[in-house]
Amino acid sequence: MTNRPLIIAPSILASDFARFGEELKAVDAAGADWIHIDIMDGHFVPNISFGPDVVKALRPLSAKPFDVHLMIAPADPYLEAFAKAGADHISVHAEAGPHLHRSLQAIRNLGKKAGVAINPATPASAIEHLLDIIDLVIVMTVNPGFGGQAFIAPVMDKVRQIKAMIGDRPIDIEIDGGVTPETAGACIAAGANALVAGSATFKGGASAYAGNIASIRNAAERARGTLV
Ligand code: DX5
Ligand code: ZN
Repeated sequence: MTNRPLIIAPSILASDFARFGEELKAVDAAGADWIHIDIMDGHFVPNISFGPDVVKALRPLSAKPFDVHLMIAPADPYLEAFAKAGADHISVHAEAGPHLHRSLQAIRNLGKKAGVAINPATPASAIEHLLDIIDLVIVMTVNPGFGGQAFIAPVMDKVRQIKAMIGDRPIDIEIDGGVTPETAGACIAAGANALVAGSATFKGGASAYAGNIASIRNAAERARGTLV
């Protein structure tokens, strides 16, 4: 079980892009802890989202940490642009480049929290030699590229291994993909403390967001309560 704070991080990938700013403000007011921002390049993943100028435009609209998840290869040439745009955390994929330590060190040198993201098929050992240079691990429970995909439950075994590896180090374990009130408890029980939620947050229109976030949080808190 984790001693890290519980974090719910709505992914604005699932918001209405025609009303991006309003959607961000709505989800901030609805109780988001972090704002998860998915950057896709049509190369590392089979979809394109948006780039640093969009992050920059959104930055004044929320004081919550911007949790930027880069699904791009190469990532290194864009790290500075995302840092300048207002990212607080920048995560790069372990599968996206050959020099992971260099990327993570570059993020820290930009004064940002450094994260590593791993795809469902990537083993826990991928983060084994990174524990001194990361603040965050994003464990993907879908193959990245799209919101609204089904949660891959066997990944929870890997989350347990990662939690054991991390121990009491101040590293957040964030689950990304298919998180709902139904799957949140398993994530927490496996050792995660941060939950990304795209579709599960942005369903039912803005008046539903607070309830949607609360449902995920309650499920997670129940799992923490029973296991602490
Ligand atoms: C997937 C992205 C996720 C996505 C999650 O490629 O990294 O952050 O937005 O969406 P849901 O919560 O709908 O699975
Ligand atoms: Zn993501």
